[in-house]
Amino acid sequence: MQLKIHNLRFSYPQQQFTVKADHLDLQPGLTAMIGENGAGKSTLFKLLGGLVTTHQGKITVDQQPLKDFLKTERARKIGLAFQDPDDQFFNSSVKKEVEWELRQLKVPAKKQSETVTAVLKETNLSQQAQQNPYDLSLSDRKLLSIATVLAPNPQIALFDEPMIALDWPSQQLVSHIFTKLAKRGHTILVISHNLDWVAQNVPQVIVMGRGKVIFAGKTRDFLHQPTLVKKSNLLLPKVTRLTMALGINPPQYRL
Ligand SMILES: Nc1ncnc2c1ncn2[C@@H]1O[C@H](COP(=O)(O)OP(=O)(O)O)[C@@H](O)[C@H]1O
Ligand SMILES: [Mg+2]
Repeated sequence: MQLKIHNLRFSYPQQQFTVKADHLDLQPGLTAMIGENGAGKSTLFKLLGGLVTTHQGKITVDQQPLKDFLKTERARKIGLAFQDPDDQFFNSSVKKEVEWELRQLKVPAKKQSETVTAVLKETNLSQQAQQNPYDLSLSDRKLLSIATVLAPNPQIALFDEPMIALDWPSQQLVSHIFTKLAKRGHTILVISHNLDWVAQNVPQVIVMGRGKVIFAGKTRDFLHQPTLVKKSNLLLPKVTRLTMALGINPPQYRL
């Protein structure tokens, strides 16, 4: 499924900040949206997820305008995990939180129960199924927000800073989940500002700076342009910085 932007303009009321994107094409596979704090990543995330509709221009899903989708139709197609997981939980247990969207989409009871069990296992949350989401650690709350997106199995899934607060094994787990979904043909967009992780795991990037898309394309093509990386105010991957400091050839990224 393709998510496309055409001549998008959006400003918050009484704010200078504007998101401007003339053309952006999000194809199936894994893409990272990167950029310094305040670049507009979360704003674009909300626009792409249909949470903010007061924009100029058009966002389409397989050529259909996103604003024409009914809420349930949109939820079936696009899954969203917010930057702050606490913005999205309202059920009394982890299990119910994962189940909620499936109930909205009227998935049969047996299938609901099988899916919840599988998704909790996949995200390593089976032991916490009966706990209140707000009693979980921040790392587990981030995993839960990912689990709620995985359950309805949307073709498009957007994750705002999913790696924040995750320990190393959970980061590995989540990277594996994203890669698996991308291989199955899902369109996955992950917001991050960790270029080390992006360089190793994500083949496509959209780079944001001051509300504008300053690069969209292959991760390696971005990383091989140090001036552009500098302009985006992102920290180059450690291995590149090390080779620069040593005055030896920088690594050639494969992704
Ligand atoms: N709800 C809001 N109301 C007004 N301004 C906002 C709101 N959310 C974000 N902004 C402003 O929009 C700009 C971009 O923020 P954001 O999209 O959160 O960037 P990022 O996710 O890249 O850090 C910032 O200047 C921020 O202060
Ligand atoms: Mg943000």
